[in-house]
Amino acid sequence: MIPITDLLGQYNEIKDEIARAVDKVLREGKYILGPEVVELEERIASSCAARYGVGVASGTDALVLSVVAAGIGEGDEVITTPFTFIATIEAVIRAGAKPVFADIDPKTYNMDPASIESKITSRTKALMPVHLYGLPCDMPAIMGIAKKHDLKVIEDCAQSFGAAIDGKVTGSFGDFGCFSFFPAKNLGCYGDGGMIVTNDGGYAEKIKLLRMHGFSADYDYRLHGFNSRLDTLQAAIVNVKMNHIDEWIEKRIQNAAGYAEGLKEVKEVEVPFIPDGYRHSMNYYALRIFPGRETRDGLKKYLTEKGVGNNIYYPLSLHLQPICADMGYKKGDYPVSEKTQDEIISLPMYPELEAEKIEFICGEIKKYFGV
Ligand SMILES: Cc1ncc(COP(=O)(O)O)c(C=O)c1O
Repeated sequence: MIPITDLLGQYNEIKDEIARAVDKVLREGKYILGPEVVELEERIASSCAARYGVGVASGTDALVLSVVAAGIGEGDEVITTPFTFIATIEAVIRAGAKPVFADIDPKTYNMDPASIESKITSRTKALMPVHLYGLPCDMPAIMGIAKKHDLKVIEDCAQSFGAAIDGKVTGSFGDFGCFSFFPAKNLGCYGDGGMIVTNDGGYAEKIKLLRMHGFSADYDYRLHGFNSRLDTLQAAIVNVKMNHIDEWIEKRIQNAAGYAEGLKEVKEVEVPFIPDGYRHSMNYYALRIFPGRETRDGLKKYLTEKGVGNNIYYPLSLHLQPICADMGYKKGDYPVSEKTQDEIISLPMYPELEAEKIEFICGEIKKYFGV
């Protein structure tokens, strides 16, 4: 069995470093907002060329706290993609605002800048691009629209740590960059965790208040807040991983090149499209399968039988989810997203994935298509 992701191989590689880092936290006893949290905040901010980093309890909370810090709530709208994980819109809803969808680009699977402007109303307060699978959205175009309409930009970087456009990393374009340290992410911890980066000192201060019940010191409550701190233990673990992350992302990129080479003769398969100058951080490796759903589902069944881990991120666009029925959308509203959900499938992807396994997986896909 080749799993879709394998966290154990990586753990074995860094076991001693992790043990030392965890032991230090346990011995020093600063379990809440200890020095490791501050260290990680500085390291992540610096890797994003941002002034501030604020550790929070999860990637979802990073989005919620950003929306709240931006002053967005009841009656406001945030434009995002229907082709993402539920947490993206959950954050907008939790903050009391309404998510509004813009369709995706058929090649990148990311929110299509061309479909954003028609969704802007007097209630729109922000754009929330999601760098899906690790491919940056077209941020120059998105920032241009935001500027023209005076909108905030909250980047959902949960899947895109280390992704960049011409060397400028995701999270550094908008007003807020929101990262997740969920274990399966490129930079995952051993539990839940997240981080917001921003260049705005006012926002950073507000998020620091929000993550700790709205008070700074001595029970001086300034805001109605949350309990959403990044654990010191998780920060210590991510600090260890930061020492290796560049090398791990490079390995993911090499693995993606291995897949692309191995699958180049299969005309029913489209490998990830990477625009010139873009660095895809390959959190997930998603193929598009032609001519459509039946073939994709058949391949999924075949790969599962052959012991090749796979998954569909995401099988149903958010506007069609029963839980979103009250938003008033219907089938056909976002045709590109709906077509993509039927054609996409993700294959095993992690830095330690051996070349022979990639060869085996490509060989099985070729057999399925009779190549
Ligand atoms: C696109 C996207 N946004 C937000 C999140 C939420 O992150 P977390 O699980 O850390 O809350 C995730 C991942 O889980 C995600 O994939």
